[in-house]
Amino acid sequence: MAAKPKLIVTRKLPDEVEAHIAAAFDAELNGDDRPLDRSQLAAAFGRADVIVPTVSDVIDAEIIGHAGPNLKLLANFGVGVNHIDLDAAKGQGIAVTNTPDVLTEDTADLAMALILMAARRLAEGERMLRGGGWTGWAPTQHLGGRVNGAKLGIIGMGRIGAALARRAGGFGMDVHYHNRRPVESGMAAELAATYWDDLDAMIGAVDILSVNCPLSPQTHHLLSAERLGLLQPHALVVNASRGGIIDEAALAELLGRGAIAGAGLDVFEGEPAIHPALLGLENVVLLPHLGSATLDGRIDMGMRAMANVEAFLAGNAPPDLL
Ligand code: DGY
Repeated sequence: MAAKPKLIVTRKLPDEVEAHIAAAFDAELNGDDRPLDRSQLAAAFGRADVIVPTVSDVIDAEIIGHAGPNLKLLANFGVGVNHIDLDAAKGQGIAVTNTPDVLTEDTADLAMALILMAARRLAEGERMLRGGGWTGWAPTQHLGGRVNGAKLGIIGMGRIGAALARRAGGFGMDVHYHNRRPVESGMAAELAATYWDDLDAMIGAVDILSVNCPLSPQTHHLLSAERLGLLQPHALVVNASRGGIIDEAALAELLGRGAIAGAGLDVFEGEPAIHPALLGLENVVLLPHLGSATLDGRIDMGMRAMANVEAFLAGNAPPDLL
């Protein structure tokens, strides 16, 4: 019997996914869920046929340079691949796949939750109550902003942006978006969203700005200090994509002096490190990268990664080849 391919998974995955992997491969799982350090990651690259990494692994050209002759596929567990140097992988003849679609609805739910939490100051309210500061209902206590009728500007009308637009429509929001190009007419009619070619103009016009584009060299600090400065003083910013799209220091500075009303962040530039200025602010919701964190979603992501591996090893084009 031919030896099973060696597949190394860098983090603990849901039990169902691990059982599937253990049955199909010569698997190295990470039961302790300790992130691999650089030398462990380099060594894994040297001995694997397939690696299943996650957003918590930095796979740069140096790590890819350690790939052994058998390593032919990085089947990323997750849709975002900004942590992988795709050019270096290509240069080394290593294919890369990701897991789109299966986390769209969960991530859009989280983006909508950030909008509601930031607009209605929900985390602040909970902190006050738990801190013993609630003395009872009062007409002017803890007032937030109304979401119904608010103008939402979505940056990036891909799968997750569109799923957020659908939710926002249900909440009575007036949906606007900026994208490289307008969505096709059927989807435009369904989403009833207004296209802005000019990102700066959209930023200045909306009440809530949501980041839903991928992080790439082109979108790094897309929300620069200058662009954030275009927001209206009552505006909110939410980000369930990648931290590096926003200049976090500039955002913290604007929030700190009340130049914008609030923010909701699920992702951070140097996560898990959080900009210290953000930690001290009441008007920002901070969540630990929970966008796709449902059990169903994480099982689906694992199975989608395995579908890519199995297609690749069978000599077929993986469904999510990048
Ligand atoms: C994704 O899939 O990109 C999530 O952010 C987790 O990596």
